[in-house]
Amino acid sequence: MAGFHLLFTVVLGHMSGSLPATRPPHLPSPCQVDNMEVFCDGRNLRSAPANLPLGIQKLDLSCNMFQNLTHETLAIHPTVHHLSLHSNKILFIEQGLFRGMKHLKFLDLSKNSLDVFAMSKSSIGQLGAVESLDLSGNGLHTGMTKYFLRDSLSLVNLSLNSNSLTKIAKDTFSGSPALKKISLHNNVILEIEDGAFNVLFHLTELDLSKNSITCITDFDLSQLQILNLSKNSLETFQTLDSDLDYELVTLDLSQNKILYFPLVPRRNKLAYLDISRNQLQGVNTTGTAEEMGNFREQSLAHTQSGLDLGHQDFSSLKYLDLSYNQIKTIPQSFYNSMVQLKHLNISNNCIGLFLVGEENRLNHLKVLDLSYNSLRNLSFGKNTLLSLEQLSLQGNLLTTLEPQTFQGRPRIKYLLLQQNNLHICPSHAESSFSNNGIHPRGCVAFSSIPTLRYLYLSENHLKELPNDAFMDTPLTLLDLSLNPGLEVGPNALSGLKDSLVHLSLRENHISRLDVDLSSLNHLKLVDLSTNRLSTLPSWNKESSIESLNLGNNNLVTLEYDTLVALESSLKTLYMGSNPLSCCSNLRFFQLMQHSAVEVPDIATVTCVHKQDSEPINIERVTMEMCHLLDNSSKIMTIVAILVVALALVVALGFLAKACYNRRHTNSSTFNA
Ligand SMILES: *[C@@H]1O[C@H](CO)[C@@H](O)[C@H](O)[C@H]1NC(C)=O
Ligand SMILES: *[C@@H]1O[C@H](CO)[C@@H](O)[C@H](O)[C@H]1NC(C)=O
Ligand SMILES: *[C@@H]1O[C@H](CO)[C@@H](O)[C@H](O)[C@H]1NC(C)=O
Ligand SMILES: *[C@@H]1O[C@H](CO)[C@@H](O)[C@H](O)[C@H]1NC(C)=O
Ligand SMILES: *[C@@H]1O[C@H](CO)[C@@H](O)[C@H](O)[C@H]1NC(C)=O
Ligand SMILES: *[C@@H]1O[C@H](CO)[C@@H](O)[C@H](O)[C@H]1NC(C)=O
Repeated sequence: MAGFHLLFTVVLGHMSGSLPATRPPHLPSPCQVDNMEVFCDGRNLRSAPANLPLGIQKLDLSCNMFQNLTHETLAIHPTVHHLSLHSNKILFIEQGLFRGMKHLKFLDLSKNSLDVFAMSKSSIGQLGAVESLDLSGNGLHTGMTKYFLRDSLSLVNLSLNSNSLTKIAKDTFSGSPALKKISLHNNVILEIEDGAFNVLFHLTELDLSKNSITCITDFDLSQLQILNLSKNSLETFQTLDSDLDYELVTLDLSQNKILYFPLVPRRNKLAYLDISRNQLQGVNTTGTAEEMGNFREQSLAHTQSGLDLGHQDFSSLKYLDLSYNQIKTIPQSFYNSMVQLKHLNISNNCIGLFLVGEENRLNHLKVLDLSYNSLRNLSFGKNTLLSLEQLSLQGNLLTTLEPQTFQGRPRIKYLLLQQNNLHICPSHAESSFSNNGIHPRGCVAFSSIPTLRYLYLSENHLKELPNDAFMDTPLTLLDLSLNPGLEVGPNALSGLKDSLVHLSLRENHISRLDVDLSSLNHLKLVDLSTNRLSTLPSWNKESSIESLNLGNNNLVTLEYDTLVALESSLKTLYMGSNPLSCCSNLRFFQLMQHSAVEVPDIATVTCVHKQDSEPINIERVTMEMCHLLDNSSKIMTIVAILVVALALVVALGFLAKACYNRRHTNSSTFNA
């Protein structure tokens, strides 16, 4: 339905009735009325405008100056179901004010001063039909919530975020038995009394993130679906030993101080488990007997019942994040029950060896992140990881890999291998593997991976990119940057003729690139910056390159023909920090001036005009500069020639005169 948009202004409360109803009155701070929704936010109001249209459903009074909420200041509209009063200065609410608002379902009182109201120990009375109440950012302390929640039978959704609660008492929610979702993010909760949430039979979502909870040893909220305990000081999370079916689907335990793997409900539906940024050393649920000596008594009582890892059921788990812990090893049996796992993140731990055997093939896994560990050895069994699309191995100590590590993954699309010590095999070398399955030359083959599109190999100390290295691997992106000394064979990229779009050879100390980049038919982005190129690689035909980075090289003269070949497709060119010559690139500069090519680093593109002179920005180069230089030198030459010629004439003149004089003298002597 085309929403009809009706805009007219509303008479403010203190001027009500003074204007005819036929014409919209003109007032300094009109509210905006859009259908049955009225927006009076940010208008310095102390009370609601009167004469609001009948039947309005939504009233936004946020960001005003309300202090007292009474029948009078609110000009009650019985039809309103959505009332927003956030960011006012409310410190008083008339008792029973909301009881009469039979349709009011959504009430936002966040960012006011309701702690002042609570200190007066009066209550707001019945909340009537309100289902969603936002009390966040009101400076409420422990014990103050009762003045708002004592009689809130319809309340389903409650936010107490960003207050100063330190404890959730047994009776905190006894007046609001219908609650489904409670947010307590960003308080200072240290203690939750036994049974505080158990009275809430419908509770499905609980956000306790950013508090100060130190341990949960008997988690028993079996009806809860989402539990967020991120950013607390938890050392332990343990479920009450029970055969109940738990509904828990999402458990966020990230950013705590957890030492042992959490003990999840025996019968669970857990799909999402985040334990990142904790202090796990392994995936055991308890420490060794020795370590347990120091462990707190309470948890001992539970852990002694001896649920060990093999018994934990993760058959619904799809997402597991263990990043940023101190895990050294993970036994293969850990994954035994994870038959649906799609996303596994173990990055930033201390893992040296990662194996996927044939007993738990992880064949649903799409994303495996093992980056920033100490991996030296990686072994994927046959027919394992058959759905894997992204494998992140950057920041490890890998030097070689078993053959088929990548070729055996039929869906692999992204390979992140930067910051290792890998060497690339020539394509045909695959056939000759030694008995241990490691290539005798200690290299890794990247040919014949037909699904691979993105390959990152920067910072691998690569010395050589052999010919045909990527045969039958139609990469879209190839990053070979930061491999100083890399030698690129003339046919190294030949397998990528019809696929490669993005190529980076940045910071490789390359002084000459003998690869015909125009043979890569789809190449669009090329980064050759920070090398030692003194000439451009040749382009034999018109290229498709759109962005070319030539910054920070040794380029003096840019071959004009090469640039003409580029011009038709080029949109962006970087070429700062090169020792360009001003006058030998004049034609090129002209070409640039008249084309649509953008030079984002133009401020750093300088050229040298005369020997020993300061580089100048290429935008300041003019034809005349170079012609002047030519003319003046010509004049100098002519002047020099003239001077020499004159000197000769003068000299000859003197000589002739001298001879004549001598002869003349002699003869005169004769005569005399
Ligand atoms: C709000 O109510 C208090 C006490 O009921 C009263 O003293 C005060 O004047 C009122 N303030 C306004 C702005 O109406
Ligand atoms: C619950 O309250 C929050 C905060 O006011 C709101 O963002 C959310 O949409 C509400 N959810 C429901 C289901 O009412
Ligand atoms: C848990 O709360 C934090 C905020 O502290 C939030 O960043 C995170 O996304 C939440 N987790 C889930 C699973 O919603
Ligand atoms: C985990 O438990 C196994 C078997 O009980 C034990 O061998 C291993 O040392 C434990 N690992 C850690 C990190 O505690
Ligand atoms: C794994 O976790 C790290 C740190 O939390 C994060 O930066 C990275 O993006 C995650 N990896 C994936 C593939 O999501
Ligand atoms: C890698 O691990 C496998 C399995 O444990 C082992 O057979 C192989 O010898 C190891 N390779 C290296 C290079 O350590």
